[in-house]
Amino acid sequence: MIRETGVKHRSGNKCVQGQMYSMKPGNRPFIELRLQDTEVYQGLLVLVNRDHPVRHQEQQTEKLPGYILRSMHAEEPDISLERTCLHQLAALIDACEATDKITVVSGYRSSRKQRQIYESTLASHGEAFTASYVALPGASEHQTGLAVDVGLLDRELDYIRPSFSGEGASGVFRDLAPVYGFIQRYQEGKEEVTGIACEPWHYRYVGYPHAAIMEQRGLCLEEYTGYVKDFPWGIRHLCYEDGERVYEIYYVKATGEETDVPIVTGGSAEWSGNNQDGYIITVSRTDRNQEQA
Ligand code: DAL
Ligand code: ZN
Repeated sequence: MIRETGVKHRSGNKCVQGQMYSMKPGNRPFIELRLQDTEVYQGLLVLVNRDHPVRHQEQQTEKLPGYILRSMHAEEPDISLERTCLHQLAALIDACEATDKITVVSGYRSSRKQRQIYESTLASHGEAFTASYVALPGASEHQTGLAVDVGLLDRELDYIRPSFSGEGASGVFRDLAPVYGFIQRYQEGKEEVTGIACEPWHYRYVGYPHAAIMEQRGLCLEEYTGYVKDFPWGIRHLCYEDGERVYEIYYVKATGEETDVPIVTGGSAEWSGNNQDGYIITVSRTDRNQEQA
């Protein structure tokens, strides 16, 4: 068993330390869920980048309420986000006590909108800048509704690069983001892997505890989706424990048009495609595992 201390995270009003370990699943009871190959391209953990464009086109989004959209940018007057992402973002901003300090600058973009942004940035700022800060049309996470650009209301808000670094409200937001399932998607030092320059304003919703694990291990989404493949169903599962719940995470490769995906019973299960070749399963429960490897 390998145990590691995780990020500090909030549970109610208290901070707890998460622990991570791998587990030999043994003969765990499970049921099978039949997933379609198209579901590889859907879910909260899809990896979207220049090598893995958006394949699922119909995103279900909701419009942001006015109180987290105090300063509407002319470029994007009606901002919407994927439903869970939107609710978790509202909860995060609330936890930061920052509804009067932080605003949303950009959220869901259609493929057409991304192309328009790409072309206008190319014309105004040139190739190198555009390649650093604007994803190719068809390959932007904004097209999933799971990415959000945030900015500080007391600064002038640039649409492509809003101000969101430093301490104060942005520091609190950055620290609490993993607890609410968000990661700073493009970090310094990961430019070669992500293909995008450091963007302190661009957050991606991946869900908890994935965001907390990525933060703890210093992994970007490209690296994390690769890391999870080291935990294939039935061989070795990844566990994350935060004092309240145990999360068991494993990977199942898609095998064709339909895949029967084993789901460990006795907990609450979620699944997501990785936008590459398979599914990531997350089962959470309140009790502790007995069989740790
Ligand atoms: N700014 C990010 C990379 C996007 O355009 O999706
Ligand atoms: Zn962005």
